[in-house]
Amino acid sequence: MNIIWHEKTKQFHLFNDEISYIIAVNPVGELGNLYYGKRINDKEDMSYVVNRFGLAQVAVDADTETYSMELNRQEYPSFGTTDFGTSAFEVEISNGSKVSSFVYKDHKIYKGKQPLEGLPATYADDSEAMTLEIYLEDVVAKTTLALSYTLFNRYPVVTRHAKFTNIGPSKVKLTKALSACLDLPDQNYQWMQFSGAWARERTPIVKNLGPGSVSIESKRGISSANQNPFVIVKRPNTDDFIGEAIGFSFVYSGNFLAQAEGDTFGRMRVLMGINPDRFTWILEKGQSFETPEVVIAYSDSGLNYLSQTYHSLYNNNLVRGKWKNTPRPILINNWEATFMDFDEEKILKIASKAKEAGIELFVLDDGWFGDRDDDFAGLGDWVENPKKLPQGIPGLARKIESLGMKFGFWIEPEMVNPDSNLYRKHPEWALSTPGRKASLGRHQMVLDYSRPEVVDYIYGMLHKIISNAPISYIKWDMNRSLTEVYSADIPAEQQGMVYHRYVMGVYSLYERLRNDFPDILFESCSSGGNRFDAGMLYYAPQAWCSDNTDAIDRIRIQYGTSYGYPVSSIGAHVSAVPNQQTGRTTSIETRANVAYFGTFGYELDLNHVSHEEFELVKSQVQFMKEYRQLFQFGTFYRLRSPFEADQAAWIVVSEDKEKAIFGFYCMRSNVTMLPGFLKLDGLSADKVYVLNDEEYFGDELMNLGVTLTKLSNNGLSTGQDFISYVEVLEAKK
Ligand code: DGJ
Repeated sequence: MNIIWHEKTKQFHLFNDEISYIIAVNPVGELGNLYYGKRINDKEDMSYVVNRFGLAQVAVDADTETYSMELNRQEYPSFGTTDFGTSAFEVEISNGSKVSSFVYKDHKIYKGKQPLEGLPATYADDSEAMTLEIYLEDVVAKTTLALSYTLFNRYPVVTRHAKFTNIGPSKVKLTKALSACLDLPDQNYQWMQFSGAWARERTPIVKNLGPGSVSIESKRGISSANQNPFVIVKRPNTDDFIGEAIGFSFVYSGNFLAQAEGDTFGRMRVLMGINPDRFTWILEKGQSFETPEVVIAYSDSGLNYLSQTYHSLYNNNLVRGKWKNTPRPILINNWEATFMDFDEEKILKIASKAKEAGIELFVLDDGWFGDRDDDFAGLGDWVENPKKLPQGIPGLARKIESLGMKFGFWIEPEMVNPDSNLYRKHPEWALSTPGRKASLGRHQMVLDYSRPEVVDYIYGMLHKIISNAPISYIKWDMNRSLTEVYSADIPAEQQGMVYHRYVMGVYSLYERLRNDFPDILFESCSSGGNRFDAGMLYYAPQAWCSDNTDAIDRIRIQYGTSYGYPVSSIGAHVSAVPNQQTGRTTSIETRANVAYFGTFGYELDLNHVSHEEFELVKSQVQFMKEYRQLFQFGTFYRLRSPFEADQAAWIVVSEDKEKAIFGFYCMRSNVTMLPGFLKLDGLSADKVYVLNDEEYFGDELMNLGVTLTKLSNNGLSTGQDFISYVEVLEAKK
């Protein structure tokens, strides 16, 4: 890994064993991109890449009239001169002009990586990464810009963000401040986005790119289930196993924009950052604005490798604290078992039975506080309901602990019901626009987390409960989009800052609670997977993946999620059948076989399963205890896509390739097809693996494949839907 500055040619070359990123100061002093991709040798002068001929309509260098932005790849394109593509930012000055030209001034190269202020970001020590900060200035706007690039040593990854500072006497207005732009030299790419809705999160969708724009965005105040802030730009032939791909992952949990734009000269621009729609940021004299981070990863060997890069980077350089690389406790959550209809006795009965099965953590979901018997009331009043919990959270937590389990509970701290003491006292603390009716979602409003006093108040209430009880886990929910976004306490010109300040408020509360209670495992949640993003993983190392707990739907949801996020982050539970969302009945084996490839837990009352099923649950819990390190932190490969067929498969392989576990799922039986073969991946070619007492070479399993008739139950020929297999492979000593 190195970052070289070629003083004479004014070119930077960032490279590690896998990638090269070459940036140059262009003829007018702004930054251009010369190369991004597979590692190439370092050369002092790569300026032959720059186009200097007269095809362009307008040139920006008045002297020779041979340089135009629109014929050259930009690094962080500005608005208003000769780049007619989408700009990465807009700075509006007091005369109303947004034209800008940020010119190279200086730079700094250092080992390691600096944290971003108040924002989640990947981190690295001096041996893990190097950082380049390039300082630019617009003399008319009297604003400086620092572009940061961190190159990781062991990953084909560069992270980027930008920081604007007003160094003049008058205020300036940022009306757009994206985090990263990558201009690519051709348009032979496809765009892959992860779209969906509640209960159908992160479906991969592929589109061809060419001239014109393709984009996804969120305007909901959260990253959303509708579009995930992660996209892949790939070659048309790239699949999970072969081909070139570039990933863009936004370490942010609010409104975002991701866009690919092909111009008429064959250039492809990819942009990512905070959605400029509904964003303005006022910079008074001396003030700065720092954008969140984008993680750009490269693969020339397929999407599995790209995903593995994100998995490993996020496990090692994004997740922090006690739960970093720590296998997760097997939990039981009472939500689908009781909803809000419970009391302490009922909860203890569920917990006792779970303990008998070997489950380690009990999670009390929604309904324990305020007047919360249904979803019309109570949010905002974080005090226990004595009718349900006579000795409060501390009493219940201690009883659960005396059973030999850990205890955790659910909160939704960003919300308030109009029917709550908090709202009656502070209606102005809810986001709403003067003179307009507030839209409700699940009968609740969103608290104005852009106001520090609101965050302080909620912090005080939660801190009190958590510090009075043995709490090991918190599920932090968030169940509606932001609407009528307006903060009562700030001037009109600052209203465009509220969305981002809201997100910063959420991050600040997470950070305070994490600092106060570093051992607590946080799980983020937002009506299931509405805020499943890299930003959240910095605070909460796992996220409830979806409210859809149906095993068959979950195969697709978890498969789609795996493109950008590690198995260790995917909250997955075995729930009751018929499934509450789909009405589908699947076996308890299949439900567990899907949930193993996640954080694993149960979401049902085990008092209500048959004796045989309970015995199976016991063995599932044992099995997960034995293999959770491998499931959650092994190298994960997608093998067969449920979006392309009625079957799905994936595998996790240990680092030393001595052990592997694959999951194979038949979503619909097909009586006339031969069972066929499943090609595995990631094994050591020459090792001999034992599978169901038979021996196979690694290369045999990866090229010929596993003969499906060799699986227990004789492969697929039982004529039943929803059959699945999870099989362990061990290398022979
Ligand atoms: C939505 C979550 O996704 C569910 O798991 C559950 O916690 C409910 N909210 C509780 O209101």
